Amino acid sequence: MSAEAYKTAEGVDVHVTNPGGKHRVIVTKELPGSTWRETLAKSDCRVEVAQGENILSQAELKGLCSGKVDGVIGQLTEAWDADMFKHLKGTGCRVYSNYAVGFNNVEVPGASAVGIPVGNTPGVLTETTAELAAALTLAAARRVVEADVFMRAGKFAGWLPNMFVGNLLQGKTVGIIGAGRIGAAYARMMVEGHKMSCVYYDMLQNTRLEGYVKSYSAFLESQGEKGVTIERAESPEGVFAAADVVSLHCALDNKSKHLVNAAMLGKMKKDAVLINTARGPVHNEADLVAHLKANPTFRVGLDVFENEPDMYPGLAHCPNAVIVPHIASASMWTRGGMASLAAANVRGVLEGFPIWNSPDVEPFLESSTLPDACPSIVNGKELKMKHMDA
Ligand SMILES: NC(=O)c1ccc[n+]([C@@H]2O[C@H](COP(=O)([O-])OP(=O)(O)OC[C@H]3O[C@@H](n4cnc5c(N)ncnc54)[C@H](O)[C@@H]3O)[C@@H](O)[C@H]2O)c1
Repeated sequence: MSAEAYKTAEGVDVHVTNPGGKHRVIVTKELPGSTWRETLAKSDCRVEVAQGENILSQAELKGLCSGKVDGVIGQLTEAWDADMFKHLKGTGCRVYSNYAVGFNNVEVPGASAVGIPVGNTPGVLTETTAELAAALTLAAARRVVEADVFMRAGKFAGWLPNMFVGNLLQGKTVGIIGAGRIGAAYARMMVEGHKMSCVYYDMLQNTRLEGYVKSYSAFLESQGEKGVTIERAESPEGVFAAADVVSLHCALDNKSKHLVNAAMLGKMKKDAVLINTARGPVHNEADLVAHLKANPTFRVGLDVFENEPDMYPGLAHCPNAVIVPHIASASMWTRGGMASLAAANVRGVLEGFPIWNSPDVEPFLESSTLPDACPSIVNGKELKMKHMDA
C-alpha cells in the first residue's frame, strides 16, 4: 500500500495509506494490527490516521474531519456530540465507529438525527476485560501491590504472621452490577476459580449465567464438595450489602452515574473489595477516597477514574487502592480485534451491507473471512437498517 503524510491547520500530523482510495476514512489514533487497514483497503478506502498520543480537542477533530469525509473511527476519550455529528453530516460522512464496546462518549441520538450509523466493537473485549477485573480482585484482596512496593523498598526483614494479611476469596460471595457479556464472564471466572457464590443486579435476568452456576454447583456436589448459589437481587443495594467482592460491569448512563456513592459504600462489608472496570463516573471518586481513608480494610481495584486521566486528590496515597490506567482491554488479540470490528463497521455501511445477526464476531477478525455485514451498529433500529437473515 502506498503512503503519504500531511499536517492539518490545527497542527495534527496525519499519515495516509492507499491515497488513491475512493472513500476517505479518518481514524483519530493509530490502531494495532494490520487487518483493519486491509479491510478498509479492500473497500477502496483512503485511510488517514492522526498521529501522536494527545487526546484531540473538538477543534482538532473538526479540522481533521474537514473537506469530504466518508467514514470516521474515533476513540472513547473523544466527545462525539450532536454538534460533531452535524459537522460530520456537512462533510458527507456516512458512518462513525467507536473503537470501544462502550459508547457513553457518543451522543447517539445526535448521530441518528442526521442519519449517521454509530458502530461499536462488542465480543472481543469480554474475556480480556473480565480477566483484568479478576486480576484487580486478587491484587486488592491479597494486597499484592502494597507488598510489591514494600519488597522493592528493601523493607522485607523476614516472614511474620501478621504481614500483609488479606482476604480469602474461596467460598465467599461475588457481587456483579451489570451481568451482561463482561459481568457474566467475570462471574464465571470467580465462581469456578474460587467456588464463590454469586449475587447480581441487572434489569435483565441472565438465565444463561444462572444455569451455568447451577450446573457447576451440581457438579461440585457430585464430587462431595459444597455447592455454590446464584441470586438475582431486586436492587443494587442487595448486591452491595451481601457481597464480599462487588465488581461493576454496567454501561455508564444517567441511572448508573454515581451509583457507588457514600450511602452505597456505607452498605458494604467493612473488609469488602470493590472493582471498577466499567466507567469511572459509575463511582463518586470523592466519596470513594473518603471511604478508603476511613476504612483501611476496605479495598478497591480501579481501571477507570471519574475524571480521566486525573485521579481524585488522595487516591494515589491510599495503600488500599490498586490503580491501573484503563488497560482492561489491553491484550494484543483484543486491541487488534477491536480495530478489525471498527473498520468492518465503516466498510459495511459504505458498501451498503446489513447488520450482522450473531454475537459471534470471529469471522470479522481476518480480512480473508470478512462477511458482507456490519458487525455492530447501535442505532441500526432507529435508522431502519436491515439485519442479515439469521
Ligand atoms: N475498562 C475497559 O477498558 C472496558 C472495556 C470494555 C468494556 N468496558 C465497559 O464495560 C461495560 C459493559 O460491557 P459489556 O460488553 O459487558 O456490555 P453489555 O451490554 O453486554 O452488558 C452491560 C449490562 O449492564 C446492564 N446495565 C445497564 N445499566 C445498568 C444499571 N444501571 N444497573 C445494573 N445493570 C445495568 C445491562 O442490562 C447489561 O446486561 C461497557 O459499557 C463499557 O463501558 C470497559
